[in-house]
Amino acid sequence: MTAIRPLVAGNWKMNGLGSTLGELADLRARMKAAPVPDADVMVCPPATLLTRAAEVLDGSDIALGAQDCHPLVSGAHTGGISAEMLADAGATAVIVGHSERRIDHGETDALVNAKALAAYRAGLTAIICVGETEAQHQDGKTLDVLRGQLQGSVPEEARAADTVIAYEPVWAIGSGLTPTPADVAEVHGFIRSVVSQLLGEGESSAMRILYGGSVKPTNASELLFVPDVNGALVGGASLKASDFYGILSVYCDPPAT
Ligand code: 13P
Repeated sequence: MTAIRPLVAGNWKMNGLGSTLGELADLRARMKAAPVPDADVMVCPPATLLTRAAEVLDGSDIALGAQDCHPLVSGAHTGGISAEMLADAGATAVIVGHSERRIDHGETDALVNAKALAAYRAGLTAIICVGETEAQHQDGKTLDVLRGQLQGSVPEEARAADTVIAYEPVWAIGSGLTPTPADVAEVHGFIRSVVSQLLGEGESSAMRILYGGSVKPTNASELLFVPDVNGALVGGASLKASDFYGILSVYCDPPAT
């Protein structure tokens, strides 16, 4: 298997005002100083900040992503934001199927699949999230749940070039809890095997599979060098440039201090 370049994406969720954009400028400055992380870096602010964030990041190595999209191009869907609108605002990627949307908004695998297709239609990378709840974890159903989510949410058209899978155990999000590295390795290996069944070995061996859930500067080196982990989707610790860069610095050689 050829080496996969890692991706670290920050999901700001429903956080951030214009005044928060200083964190992006700070991150940009940190990314310019040596040593530079050997990883792709992305920030996904709320939709209201995309245009201004694109200006702050213009000409930098930090990509801009969005957090959700409507499956359709346009129309009478009050409050909806299409993938085309996100691309127009400067995004190159969009998160789809985050557990907070699956749970808060009742999003089904079929809808997540349609949103991923909308992302491709607009020329965006789809970051497709999967993950089991605490109850499913306790019941030993993790792999079954993930298989079902992947089968339903990953379109046949998905390719490694425009698709990233993010494994985010719901019980690890914002809780400070994380699976053991051995559990992460098992689950990521399983996800890659399911992706191989769905899309073929060529795509699965090149596809980035991110881990998400309570990734911090203090645990990043333990979680991100696990086999089949190709980066992270970071929530809370992406809001401060110092914390986010602390995570990125595990990809620096020599490590940033
Ligand atoms: P935390 O890093 O805050 O646990 O959030 C993870 C997440 O949901 C990223 O999408």
